[in-house]
Formats: sequence, structure tokens, C-alpha cells
Amino acid sequence: MSVTLFNDRLPHRTIGPRLLCKMSAWSAAATALAALLNPTTVSAQQADGERMFRQRCGACHSMNPGQKSGPHLTGVIGRTAGSIEGARYSGAMRASGIIWDKATLNTFLATPRRLIPGTTMTVAVPDATQRAAIITYLEGQQPKANN
Ligand code: HEC
Repeated sequence: MSVTLFNDRLPHRTIGPRLLCKMSAWSAAATALAALLNPTTVSAQQADGERMFRQRCGACHSMNPGQKSGPHLTGVIGRTAGSIEGARYSGAMRASGIIWDKATLNTFLATPRRLIPGTTMTVAVPDATQRAAIITYLEGQQPKANN
């Protein structure tokens, strides 16, 4: 008689709550993993670049014609430095005569003041891989009509 009682109760008491706990931990992990993996289905570098742009440039630069403290960067590749009307540029940027391409952007972002002494943009991206991702993202952000 006592054996039946034992078999009957033990599984419920010991496995029940712990199993539930494990299952919810697993589903939380699976959700986090799915969120991590999802952007890579679009294009790893584009998504990376977009995320980094938002984190490191987005406070000062928008992607819409409309300024924050820095000039908007829609269609920046192929654009003359310091050429957006209404943006607050340093004299150094306006006088630089640079036309932004991948190479000049790469040099600028590595050490802004080395390329343009006197620029008021001092934020740098020292990591070459991160610069490449951001530049790839910028390259994809060309204006739809004439800008
Ligand atoms: C703290 C604000 C700030 C941050 C953050 C910032 N910038 Fe700037 N950026 C500026 C300002 C201000 C200028 C204008 C500089 C000047 O005129 O000397 C500028 C200018 C530029 C220009 C030249 C644009 C033109 O029209 O000639 C580019 C390109 C640029 N930034 C890219 C970036 C990128 C990419 C990032 C992120 C990695 C970034 N900036 C982060 C403030 C910022």
C-alpha cells in the first residue's frame, strides 16, 4: 500500500515545478536567439551598419533631409563636403573641397581631424570593420529623387 502512495506522489512533487521552470528558461533563450539571428537574413553588413549608424551617428545625423546638430547623410556618397544648405558646418569642412566617396569617408571616420583639421565633428570610428559596415549602410541610403 505504501508503495502505491509513493509512486503516485513523487513525480508530481519533484518534477512538476522544476520542469516548468526549465521550459520557460528555454523559450526565453529561443526568443533571444531568434531576435539575434533575424537581421542576418536581410544582409548582415547592412543590418550591422544600420544598427551602428543609429548607435554612433544617429544622435547628430538623420537620414532625412532635415538637420540634427550635424548635416543629414542621405546620399552623402558623391556629395561635396559641407554642401547641405542650412546645416551648421565649420569653415574647414566647407573649404575642404572633398567629394565624399568610400575612401574619403573611411579616412574621415577613422580620424576626422586628420583629414579635415578644424572640423567640428570629433567622433571617430577606430575599428575598420565597423567603418566598413557603416559606409556600406550609407552607400545604400541614396536619395530617391534629386536632393
Ligand atoms: C556629436 C555629434 C556627431 C556625431 C555623433 C557624428 N557626427 Fe558626423 N558630423 C557632425 C557635425 C557637427 C558635422 C559637421 C562638421 C563640420 O562642419 O566640420 C559632421 C559632419 C559629418 C560628415 C560630412 C557631411 C557633409 O555634408 O559634408 C559626415 C560624412 C559625417 N559627419 C559622418 C558621420 C558618421 C558616419 C558618424 C557616425 C560614425 C558621425 N558622423 C557621427 C556631428 C556628429
